[in-house]
Amino acid sequence: MVSLTHHIVEQRRLQPASAEEFSDIMNRIVSGGKRIAQELSEAGLTDSLGTTDERNVHGEQVKRMDARANQIFVDAFQDGGIVQIVVSEEMDEPLAVAHAEGSGNYAVFFDPLDGSSNIDVNAPLGSIFSVHRLDPAGNFLKPGCEQVASGYLLYGASTILVYTCGRDVHQFTLDPAVGEFFLSASNIQIPAIGKIYSVNEGNESKWSKHLVKIVDYFKDNDEETGRPYSSRYTGCLVADVHRILLKGGLYLYPGEVKKPEGKLRLMYEAAPLSFVVEQAGGLGSTGVERISTIHPKTPHQCVPLIIGSRRDVEVAEQFLR
Ligand code: AHG
Ligand code: MN
Ligand code: MN
Repeated sequence: MVSLTHHIVEQRRLQPASAEEFSDIMNRIVSGGKRIAQELSEAGLTDSLGTTDERNVHGEQVKRMDARANQIFVDAFQDGGIVQIVVSEEMDEPLAVAHAEGSGNYAVFFDPLDGSSNIDVNAPLGSIFSVHRLDPAGNFLKPGCEQVASGYLLYGASTILVYTCGRDVHQFTLDPAVGEFFLSASNIQIPAIGKIYSVNEGNESKWSKHLVKIVDYFKDNDEETGRPYSSRYTGCLVADVHRILLKGGLYLYPGEVKKPEGKLRLMYEAAPLSFVVEQAGGLGSTGVERISTIHPKTPHQCVPLIIGSRRDVEVAEQFLR
């Protein structure tokens, strides 16, 4: 059994320039994730379900566990490490955290709790993270292909952590009795083509006719190309993309005619998940450009997302050309 702690030490050998930093950042994310998993498992008993009175920068009602998960990750970076900036879905502005003297070369982006409307019905939830190195000018808004590491925790039947540091994708499963993650899948490869499409089809009336055609294509009957695909949608991006990563197919959260930028956030949803899926051989796209080459303009900007098996995403892109 390979523990995540051991694996992180091994991985840092692959990036000697930032060996200590890499371990430090990953260990803080992992301990935050373990804490969130623990609190979610008893949220129905601790008055932690339901919403706060707050709305976040995207105008969404903040759930109690959104606020709590955000606090857990902020606390994990507050005591003098090498992360200088924490950006989160649940904080309007990037937060400058206390960092060690002479260091502070990194920014970490979080979706602290993804799919948070699932909390009240005991359905899957996730956390997404993305690590960037600041450039010499202190800029932390960089394209996804420059991520140092990214990944997610998925709080489902078990708690798993999937991450990449730009090569290979590995999955770890939390053993709650020991409080440690152990390797449960290494060098994950996404199938080149799948059998599943994942989209909120209730939004169809808001899509362009090209988008309607994409989804119709995957529902059409054609034995040769293995259609129709099955539909799966949990309402938790992490859970839906994880299914696609393992089983193949595509996840779509497209733009709408009146909201072409869509709903999902580039820096803490689309880019980190695309980094994982692309290291596994898949593709992350807006439909017309690769997610990983977008130069971000703001920390909270939204992008349309089509992500999954390379061939399936490329087929979808053809409808948008
Ligand atoms: P979050 O809970 O972090 O705000 O993210 C919700 C996202 C994502 O998890 C999911 O894929 C999508 O929103 C679901 O949105 P719809 O309810 O519009 O389908
Ligand atoms: Mn989310
Ligand atoms: Mn969230």
